Amino acid sequence: MLNPTINPIYFKNQTDLTIQPPASGIALTGSLSIPGDKSISHRALMLGALARGETRIRGLLLGEDVISTAKCLRSLGADISDLTGDEIIIQGGLGQLQEPFDLLNAGNSGTTMRLMLGILAAQPNCFFTLTGDRSLRSRPMSRVVKPLTQMGAEIWGRQNHNLAPLAIKGSKLRPIHYYSPVASAQVKSCILLEGLMSEGQTTVTEPALSRDHSERMLKAFGADLKTDSETNSVTITGGNNLQGQSVIVPGDISSAAFWLVAASIIPDSELVLTNVGINPTRSGILDVLNLMGANITLEKERIVTGEPIADLRVRYSSLNGCEIAGELTVRSIDEIPIIVVAAAFAKGTTVIKDAAELRIKECDRLSVMATQLSYMGAKITEYPDGIEIQGGHPLSGAEVASHDDHRIAMSLAVAALVASGKTIMGFEYHSCRKLR
Ligand code: S3P
Repeated sequence: MLNPTINPIYFKNQTDLTIQPPASGIALTGSLSIPGDKSISHRALMLGALARGETRIRGLLLGEDVISTAKCLRSLGADISDLTGDEIIIQGGLGQLQEPFDLLNAGNSGTTMRLMLGILAAQPNCFFTLTGDRSLRSRPMSRVVKPLTQMGAEIWGRQNHNLAPLAIKGSKLRPIHYYSPVASAQVKSCILLEGLMSEGQTTVTEPALSRDHSERMLKAFGADLKTDSETNSVTITGGNNLQGQSVIVPGDISSAAFWLVAASIIPDSELVLTNVGINPTRSGILDVLNLMGANITLEKERIVTGEPIADLRVRYSSLNGCEIAGELTVRSIDEIPIIVVAAAFAKGTTVIKDAAELRIKECDRLSVMATQLSYMGAKITEYPDGIEIQGGHPLSGAEVASHDDHRIAMSLAVAALVASGKTIMGFEYHSCRKLR
């Protein structure tokens, strides 16, 4: 690992992070255990709360987003043990939710808000209000409100029911076949959860297959669910019949991605990242880095609670530019910010297409990565649905802002480790300018 006496990252004050690149010749070496997968953690809590009997979860991610999901479920009456324990135990059976006294708050988490909407809308005779932080209150909810309304849900919010805070009057909904205009696991999962809580058969068809953790976990909990890979469709039969399960959450490939890129661009590095989820709907980052010429090998491949996992060995390698489009963009959607960093250190040009969804994440990730990385000297052109990076221009430290987005913060931190000179990262929208 990095020599602990040369700590390259420290907080200057509560809001700024100063990153000093380590002395040249210092590589990343060793073995790291990656924190639990965020998408799987949300789903394990939700299905555990809805299932009959006991659910035991190991490896749950203790990030704020997952804590928001647990808080919402507890407000609805779920019996969830202390989240800091080694094993989280949920005494399930939340078929009929308890109407909370107060607002439900999804914090910064789009997954919490969109998936919870599917559960809440299908609760007859209950009224809920669902809100989130400043970023989440500006993200579009119509992508789930629209199909839920088609099923008969009653949901109100600003901008024609698009923006939280949202008020939801639960009711008995009718099943539909929804053709989603976007490949979004949040949209798909919201509708599947609604379908689970209702009667009849609900189908979602998406233009490309988004992450399928909900399908895998719903099946593992005993739901009657069928997938059709030719049409990217999934059908669930309603009548919540889930049974509690033991879930082991794999390490999050989206978190592993920062280490994969850091070790690929810091000379002489070699890291082993243990127990990382390599679900094919999420492993686009491995394909992208392989296309770029990275040196990554998969070891000890195995299946754990329905999800494929492996240890990832990554060694330094010189990278080349590549093109990323279509389903490869979908399978690496959360990793695009760190791929932009890899591209800045690669030889040649990298073009990322079909990535307009990035504009409505925790921040506009296309615009923020283009702006912040160009403060460090990267040559980047932004397009409405993509980004082009001319690699190989040396980066130098700058004053940058993460726009309160964890994936941007981590990506800029990795870039700063290899840039010359000091980088100061603010977390808010302020002070984004060159230091020199
Ligand atoms: C997620 C789905 C993706 C992803 C997000 C987590 C999920 O969002 O970007 O970080 O857990 O379902 P979309 O469904 O908007 O693509």
